[in-house]
Amino acid sequence: MIILKSPWEIDLIRKSGRIVAEALARLTKLVEPGITTLDLDLVAEEYILKRGGTPAFKGYRGYPYTLCASVNEQVVHALPSERKLREGDIISLDLGAIVDGYYGDAAVTVPVGQVSAEAKRLIDVTQESLQRAIEAARPGNRLSDISHAVQSAVEAEGFAVVRVFVGHGIGRSLHEEPQIPNFGPPGHGPVLKTGMVLAIEPMVNTGSPDVMILEDRWTAVTCDKSLSAHFEHTVAVTENGTEVLTSLNGRG
Ligand code: MF3
Ligand code: CO
Repeated sequence: MIILKSPWEIDLIRKSGRIVAEALARLTKLVEPGITTLDLDLVAEEYILKRGGTPAFKGYRGYPYTLCASVNEQVVHALPSERKLREGDIISLDLGAIVDGYYGDAAVTVPVGQVSAEAKRLIDVTQESLQRAIEAARPGNRLSDISHAVQSAVEAEGFAVVRVFVGHGIGRSLHEEPQIPNFGPPGHGPVLKTGMVLAIEPMVNTGSPDVMILEDRWTAVTCDKSLSAHFEHTVAVTENGTEVLTSLNGRG
């Protein structure tokens, strides 16, 4: 069942989403050669707590940190560590916060110093695919219009969409129905309605779409070691179009 949210519930998700957006903006500025992913995790946790939120991932199914910090061939869910970022890396920062019981969830991928032309293009294409998906998340469209928007934007550029992880409904839980695959034909699935709140999150690889999980039981990596990028926004479907709840300007 897809749980529709009232305007006051959306307002709470807007609050948790804003904290996530501000924290990610702050982390993005800190990304540079030499900083560790654990440093970034600590900044994220302190910032969320300072703003009156609660880290959403810490303790979720036993996840031990506030931030997921996935570098290069790491796709998602990499654990913060003493690993130092190096010039030319790319890092995906995935973060969630809770305010008064309501979750916000977002991710960005950031270059560390100067990166290869391919890495830069991967980041741009993944971000653009999320933007196209957000435009497809309007009342009257169907769920798979979102999926199709991601897939077509990504594959037109010669990259591959990860299939085993999906976006999701979000609200009083981090993961609610519906699941939102990042691929598929348009025109299928539930009709999108005002009051739906969705976390849309394309994960895109330069090589094969296949991923595997490391022995730490969290970190997902590309099987062929190709680079991977991840962007995510929590959005509300409203009469006046789609509101991005995890951006600083409501648009993405
Ligand atoms: N954005 C991710 C998701 O929606 C973050 C979950 S990480 C976890 O699944 F640690 F909380 F599992
Ligand atoms: Co998510």
